[in-house]
Amino acid sequence: MGQSFKYDVCVVGGCGHVGLPLAIMFANRDRKVCVYDINEKSIEGIKAGKLPFYEEGAEPLLASALASGNLDFTSNEQVISESEIIIVIIGTPVDEHLNPRVDVLKKTFASMSKYISHEQLLILRSTVYPGVTKRVKDWLEEDGHLCDVAFCPERILEGKAVEELTTLPQIVSSFTESGVKRASELFSLLTDDIVVVEPLEAELTKLCTNVWRYIKFAVSNQFYTIANDYNVDFYNIHHAMTHNYPRCKDFPRPGFAAGPCLFKDTMQLGAFYDNNFNLGHTAMLINEGLPNYVCKCLKRECDLSKLTVGILGMAFKAESDDTRESLSYKVKKLFEFESKLVLCSDPYVKDPSFVSKEELIERSDIIIIATPHKEYKDIIVDGNKKVVDIWNILGNGGKI
Ligand SMILES: NC(=O)c1ccc[n+]([C@@H]2O[C@H](COP(=O)([O-])OP(=O)(O)OC[C@H]3O[C@@H](n4cnc5c(N)ncnc54)[C@H](O)[C@@H]3O)[C@@H](O)[C@H]2O)c1
Repeated sequence: MGQSFKYDVCVVGGCGHVGLPLAIMFANRDRKVCVYDINEKSIEGIKAGKLPFYEEGAEPLLASALASGNLDFTSNEQVISESEIIIVIIGTPVDEHLNPRVDVLKKTFASMSKYISHEQLLILRSTVYPGVTKRVKDWLEEDGHLCDVAFCPERILEGKAVEELTTLPQIVSSFTESGVKRASELFSLLTDDIVVVEPLEAELTKLCTNVWRYIKFAVSNQFYTIANDYNVDFYNIHHAMTHNYPRCKDFPRPGFAAGPCLFKDTMQLGAFYDNNFNLGHTAMLINEGLPNYVCKCLKRECDLSKLTVGILGMAFKAESDDTRESLSYKVKKLFEFESKLVLCSDPYVKDPSFVSKEELIERSDIIIIATPHKEYKDIIVDGNKKVVDIWNILGNGGKI
């Protein structure tokens, strides 16, 4: 007879940006879920019904999951042994040399291993360096654990998890037929659209998806700087390219392309290809170089040392409170060196050093709209102040 488990699913790293929405979804689909996370502060807040970050429409779903009694939380790793399916969705950073920190996962699995038994299904959902899923399987086998191991990458857009978890196809891969079957059954709670591939293919699919987006942003940013250097407003070109022209329909707007995923996943693919991924590295130089480009343009035009620069938006993307890898902070650093004073503002990010957008606009000589939050669409700025609006959120073009 098979072992009976207290929980259907344990989400390791379940207080995170992608772990929490997933845990909530499964709890609302009548599965008994336990979130295991090392962040006890987050656990306390979530148990009280408060999300630790902004996620559209998730709070009512959290409330219903908590009320159903299907959602538990713990910082005790032992819960892993009480769960039939373990989904690991912790962060997978790159180091200062832009190489993947595989050691983070190795350490986690070394610690988890003693709680894993052969009747369980272990699903890796973090974005991983290609080959990691096979390594995880090997590490567990070396410890005598022959459980099913699957890799099913998360592809939601942060902030849109509630909508996308049930509308995006789910990619499923495993080394065993039973792993594929069990993982497919689990994700069919969210969608009927399941794509089954091999684990290495799934790992590369996830990386290629993110890198493709990062390169698209880089192309737009490069076109923007070319146009701007010729004193041409790129938005006239962008409009002409995309208006009723299906082959350019998804051509993105220029702007700071940042955040916790696209950059690091491009670097992971670069490391996987022995640093011969020229396209990816070029995209990185273009996207990461955009703050320097802005600074260079403004330096050409005025004596920054006498001016106050205001940065509107410190989150890495619109309507988000996530500042991880936000290029706004690179802009801040550059102008703290070049200008008299830098002021920052963001309606979503809590930081006592920030000022209101009104105060920032009033006190700054140059205003840089770094994040296209909807709150900036209707700002009014005196004609004698310079506004840098690469996103063209004000509709006056993007020229610097
Ligand atoms: N953020 C996104 O939009 C997004 C989208 C798709 C995929 N991903 C991938 O998902 C993974 C997680 O990203 P995230 O943004 O949710 O990260 P996050 O930092 O928001 O969440 C990670 C969570 O894991 C917890 N944690 C860390 N180590 C742990 C351990 N050893 N045991 C238990 N809990 C632990 C942390 O406390 C945190 O709550 C990454 O691989 C990322 O690339 C992220």
